Amino acid sequence: MLTRRACLSLTAAGFAAGFASPAPAQEPSLSALAKAKGLNFGTALGTGKPFEDARYREIIIRECGMIVPENELKWYVLRPDDKTFAFGRADALAAFARGNGMILRGHTLLWHHPRWFPAWLNDYDFGSRPAAKAEAMLSQHIRHLCARYPQIQSWDVVNETINDKTGELRETSLSKAMGQGVLETSFHLAREAAPNAKLAYNDYMGWNASDAKHRDGVLRLLERLKKNGAPVDVLGIQSHLGVGQGDQVTGSGARQEREWRRFIDEAVGMGYDLSLTELDINDKALPADLPSRDRAVADEAKAFLDLMLSYPQTKEVLAWGMTDQYSWLQGTTPRPDNLPKRPSPYGADYQAKPLREAIAAALRAAPERTPWG
Ligand code: G3I
Repeated sequence: MLTRRACLSLTAAGFAAGFASPAPAQEPSLSALAKAKGLNFGTALGTGKPFEDARYREIIIRECGMIVPENELKWYVLRPDDKTFAFGRADALAAFARGNGMILRGHTLLWHHPRWFPAWLNDYDFGSRPAAKAEAMLSQHIRHLCARYPQIQSWDVVNETINDKTGELRETSLSKAMGQGVLETSFHLAREAAPNAKLAYNDYMGWNASDAKHRDGVLRLLERLKKNGAPVDVLGIQSHLGVGQGDQVTGSGARQEREWRRFIDEAVGMGYDLSLTELDINDKALPADLPSRDRAVADEAKAFLDLMLSYPQTKEVLAWGMTDQYSWLQGTTPRPDNLPKRPSPYGADYQAKPLREAIAAALRAAPERTPWG
């Protein structure tokens, strides 16, 4: 585990050790470009290998004004049992953010999907008054996290509760115990425990034809939350894009730009702000040739960001990792040629790629907006 001191002394030490400058020195950082337009830019960062990699940390310190723990605030990492909170890994990331003057984002108070609940919670016996017991447990969890990290300015309160195939709400042990009101309750508890934070519903619906049911389900949920008076400020659009996936390799179907705009219009029409919370571009369906692959990835991101940043309601942009080698996508369905994927703004050689320039160009072209206060 890195000490706080090691995190803080990194910038000077990194360059003294002769590391190549990861982007042209005269270039403003992505964070500076974002700030100039009233936006925050950052990345997910996980403990373990990524956090221990000094060259990687250097890129993050240089480019980002915000980090979000990739896994460290999830129940299955943080909660070994119903009484314990294992804060160590999240604390290390929070200290890194503080030490480098970065905002911390929170992901996530309730990933409402049984696959990502700890086993003990899936099997929990909520006793004779299940609704009260489940609510007490949820309340303890949300209060503890928000109190521990008061520096978090925006929280993914509920994550991915819509089944992407059916558009219906997922069931978990908590929703079985206390009903689907678990969603509204989570937002009320978060508002109480973190009154100044922006509260988001976060999901991965996208702009491909295969996302239609998912988008509809998310809109129905947003309408319901609004109608029931749940304090939700933001729709978190994860932005896991997939380029070249409109073909038969994945069957995701063509990009549906008109339908996507309608989806966003409806969300902002209900009063929600927008946050692009997990940007990366899956290149598994693209030909191997690196220059054209990197170009296609960059073009997809630019098209998406141009559209999304045209909405003044978009206030945050986060990459889901800044370098290819630590991307979660390396562990998902491989490319047919088994080559490493190239979904991130920097390569495994720590050099900026065309995707970095595409993000910079989209930020430069974005209209100014009022930042979150
Ligand atoms: O840390 C262990 C390591 O000790 C072990 O050797 C290894 C063997 O599989 O697993 C490691 O843990 C993995 C962890 O990532 C850290 O790399 C878990 O198996 C793996 O399930 C976990 O995946 C994460 C996934 O969420 C599930 O929590 C990814 O890193 C993370 O990028 C991904 O992030 C999600 C967002 O939270 C929500 N939206 C989608 C996004 C991508 O799936």
